[in-house]
Amino acid sequence: MDNKKFYITTPIYYPSDKLHIGHSYTTVACDAIARYKRAKGYDVMFLTGTDEHGQKIQDKAAAKGVTPKEYVDAIVATVKDLWKVMDVSYDRFIRTTDDYHVKSVQAIFTRLYEKGDIYKSTYKGMYCKPCESFWTEAQLKDGCCPDCGGPVYEAEEEAYFFKTGKYADRLLQYYEDHPDFIQPATRKNEMIAFIKQGLQDTCVSRTSVSWGIPVPFDPKHTIYVWIDALSNYITALGYGNDTYHDYDKFWPANLHMVGKEILRFHTIIWPAMLMALDLPLPKKVFGHGWLLLGGGKMSKSKGNVVDPVQLCDRYGVDAVRYFLLREVPFGNDGAFTNEALINRINTDLANDLGNLLSRTVAMCEKYFGGTVQNAPIDEALSGLMANLPARVDADMEALDVPAALTHIFELVQRANKYIDETAPWVLAKNEADRPRLNQVLFNLCSALELIAALLQPYLPNTAPKMAEQLGVDANELHSLLREEAAGVIRSGYTVHKGEALFPRIDVAKEIAYLEAEDAKRKAEAEAANAAAAAASEPAAEIGDHEAEIDYDTFTKVEIRVGLVRACEAMKESKKLLHLTVFDGERERCILSGIAKWYKPEDLTGKRVPIVANLAPRPMMKGKYTSEGMILAADTADGGCSIAFYGDDVPVGTRIH
Ligand code: ME8
Ligand code: MG
Repeated sequence: MDNKKFYITTPIYYPSDKLHIGHSYTTVACDAIARYKRAKGYDVMFLTGTDEHGQKIQDKAAAKGVTPKEYVDAIVATVKDLWKVMDVSYDRFIRTTDDYHVKSVQAIFTRLYEKGDIYKSTYKGMYCKPCESFWTEAQLKDGCCPDCGGPVYEAEEEAYFFKTGKYADRLLQYYEDHPDFIQPATRKNEMIAFIKQGLQDTCVSRTSVSWGIPVPFDPKHTIYVWIDALSNYITALGYGNDTYHDYDKFWPANLHMVGKEILRFHTIIWPAMLMALDLPLPKKVFGHGWLLLGGGKMSKSKGNVVDPVQLCDRYGVDAVRYFLLREVPFGNDGAFTNEALINRINTDLANDLGNLLSRTVAMCEKYFGGTVQNAPIDEALSGLMANLPARVDADMEALDVPAALTHIFELVQRANKYIDETAPWVLAKNEADRPRLNQVLFNLCSALELIAALLQPYLPNTAPKMAEQLGVDANELHSLLREEAAGVIRSGYTVHKGEALFPRIDVAKEIAYLEAEDAKRKAEAEAANAAAAAASEPAAEIGDHEAEIDYDTFTKVEIRVGLVRACEAMKESKKLLHLTVFDGERERCILSGIAKWYKPEDLTGKRVPIVANLAPRPMMKGKYTSEGMILAADTADGGCSIAFYGDDVPVGTRIH
């Protein structure tokens, strides 16, 4: 039984904002794998959690006027709610702010230092704030962060380094000896190339970030990102602490599931850390592709996200899970669209699966009062049914979740075709055909029971509903997977008609609804913008004052120093200038009605005050979205004047 245990992890997510459908994608895939392994009789440890330290969270908290811990506490509550809504069956949830983790990370850092694998030096490089990564000039893409494409700036500080470079040869050897370690295999070459180009040591501390775990022997440094974050996979098992005692049982992990952008950290830095600690390496790291929205990666820093809770409310959890698990070939990037989601629900779930069950149950009731007797499985289905558990097992072993679902749905489709071929309604007309009619319906019930059993890990709400309608005990469905049974040996089925599994969605109406919702959201944002604009309407007359506000209300307006990186006249409008303003974190587009008073070259390269938290406002019929406002004073002659800051004020500085 010793090898029947399975340790699977998701990345620990940054609680810098509510999680979106991209995080659900990874987590639901892990959940399906964990559930599958449990159904197969494995003792599973499924770990997820949150990565709570760092500059970005510190900034977000400051902007909200709360402490970083208060800020992450509130977000983490929503993360846990989300996993509840999505039926994510994690066994443990780690927060990097948990005391036991903090202590363990300090112990790990000290051990690496004492071993000589961590040393003190100076860091110089180009820093990307949203990604919390330093890059060398050579790594930049068009001068921007190679991961997110965003702007980077020069930074230098005293820092501790981990000797990743020392492990380059051992890493390459490890990949060679363990050809399955990096998945999908296509990404392995990228990792090898990365090491071969010359592996730099990794900066593992910061003096400029206070929201982090202090280096125990040099507390002006905080332990920075990767040692803190990656260690979670062992501290959560009790490594370096007495809170948990599962390290010996579950380490090394069977699978770290991550998005492709952090595969490198998991296949280079993390294994090197483990080598330095003399610990075994995880068996597998899988870097899946991205869920794209409108052609780009969904990302909290870009603000183009889909809220999974809303989708689950409207379409049901299992429908959303099904879409996430089925739509995109695992490992590849794929697009999220409402149309694709609705199509999947209608075609596979409502038409194919739902109808198969409802037709079968209705015919059992109509022709046999609900009970059909045991009968042999027809050749039309027996081969497919007998092979399906093993096929699904092979898919799951290969971590090809969409293929597993595709194969299960082949049986769904085959069974629907079987109904057309056998035409039970014709058999029902002739008393002599009753045994055959019974056999056909028994065959369909058997196929459906197997389908329900196989679907459990992916559709945990639907499988029991199917079992109930088929009159079988939902708890017994597991046994079908464990024995890899060829079909089901039962003495008949007594069915109970229930609700449709997945109500069919009226596509035209639904799309109209979604468009109306979009329009509503836009209108709300515009109204909010208009209100804000009206509030900042030129106060021409002295004495035209606003009502008094308290300090808290004032702090809600986030005014920052923005750097005008580019400024252009617009062919669509004589009044407006199109500005590209860097706010210290990202570039935003701001359209400003100042063309009459400023030429583009007057503004390019200047540091100006901007309102940074104004809701984005669609302009020029939605062709542009203006993300903020430049502050300007009216001049006596009816013009306007913008205040410029000098280089001594860093870009992104808050004005208050
Ligand atoms: O990177 N498509 O946290 P994070 C698919 N804290 N997957 C997506 C996705 C998308 N559009 N967006 C996010 C971190 N993900 C670190 C990890 S681990 C020791 C530390 C998923 O909040 C995907 O799994 O930025 C990706 O790797 C992860 O969320 C990044 O989450
Ligand atoms: Mg990220």
